[in-house]
Amino acid sequence: MGKIKIALAGVGNCASALVQGIEYYKHNGNANLGLIHHTFAGYFPADIDVVAAFDVSAEKVGKDVSKAIFAKPNNTIKIRDMEDLGVKVLKGELHDGIGEYLKDLITISEEPPVDVAKVLEESGAEILINMVPSGAIEASKYYAEQALKAKCAFLNATPHEIASNLEWAKHFKDTGIPVAGDDIMNQIGSTIIHKSILKMLTDRGVLIKESYCLDVGGAMESLNSLERSRAIKRKFKTNAVKSQIPSLKEVPIVAGSTDFVDFLENRRDSYFWILANYFGFAPVKIDITLSTLDAPNSFAIILDAIRGIKVALDRKVSGPLESISGFCFKKPPKECTIQEAKVWINEFISGKREI
Ligand SMILES: NC(=O)c1ccc[n+]([C@@H]2O[C@H](COP(=O)([O-])OP(=O)(O)OC[C@H]3O[C@@H](n4cnc5c(N)ncnc54)[C@H](O)[C@@H]3O)[C@@H](O)[C@H]2O)c1
Repeated sequence: MGKIKIALAGVGNCASALVQGIEYYKHNGNANLGLIHHTFAGYFPADIDVVAAFDVSAEKVGKDVSKAIFAKPNNTIKIRDMEDLGVKVLKGELHDGIGEYLKDLITISEEPPVDVAKVLEESGAEILINMVPSGAIEASKYYAEQALKAKCAFLNATPHEIASNLEWAKHFKDTGIPVAGDDIMNQIGSTIIHKSILKMLTDRGVLIKESYCLDVGGAMESLNSLERSRAIKRKFKTNAVKSQIPSLKEVPIVAGSTDFVDFLENRRDSYFWILANYFGFAPVKIDITLSTLDAPNSFAIILDAIRGIKVALDRKVSGPLESISGFCFKKPPKECTIQEAKVWINEFISGKREI
């Protein structure tokens, strides 16, 4: 199979886990450490090459991607030593990329911004992965426009609605390129765990009375979300959990990010609370903590989304990809349960399902 050429918009923690993870699999091809699909419709993780990268930080612009991923304020784990990839981080347009809470921590590069669409075309990038901070709405729109201009597929890891927005979806469809999104759903993050516990309880006849899941984290994304994206993240996460079970529509449920605790670094602690009744109105209380590292938690999912988009490109399928988005994202163009997403993705891989 051919290689998959990707470009990165935003070289933060998520990009660091992705780039290190791909490199890990280039050196450990047969390993299957934390992957959902080792091979996805014939594509392996090692088939992915980073061919372009964009950021705005003076710590990252001008550096080889292999070095930029370790530049501050990135603070996720080092998975392996990296050799130069031969791809320098270029300056993208800033727009609203850096919010109030991050502006004292990130110095903007003085390099002039490059023509992103031209770089995408010249580098042969097939998929642009949008990993700018949440709440950077204008920056996300800008990268979606650049992808359209360069006829490059778009993977939107951020919560800004692109794949799930009808107008954007139409632009991608009309331009003949696929788009998947929005807002990556972590491999073992609070959304999938909250959904799974509530579904299990409901399936076993338990009546949910109330539930919440709130997080604290120490990465830039947690700090940034305090200012700009807490409300939208809460809406997406709560809807993602409620969409799992129709009978939960009227139950008080809250799911969302809460606060920033700097010494946690890239750790995220999630607190789940559920009050319910079972037979005889007997009460049950569930109180669980989940502790994860944020960026590696997105790796296996972004990897599947990249390979799913590549399959769509091979099959000349365009517009929003429902199966990939339902499986990999919190706000897909078409809502679905975990079980439906699994069926859809398998049907997509086998070719039975077009999008
Ligand atoms: N597990 C996860 O990490 C996870 C899960 C769900 C969603 N997401 C989403 O993925 C995105 C990335 O998360 P992260 O933790 O890597 O964030 P991060 O803050 O670590 O990285 C963001 C990067 O974008 C850069 N940036 C800012 N403005 C830019 C612009 N205009 N052009 C190019 N680069 C720009 C910043 O300098 C930084 O390097 C966020 O939107 C987040 O909500 C991540």
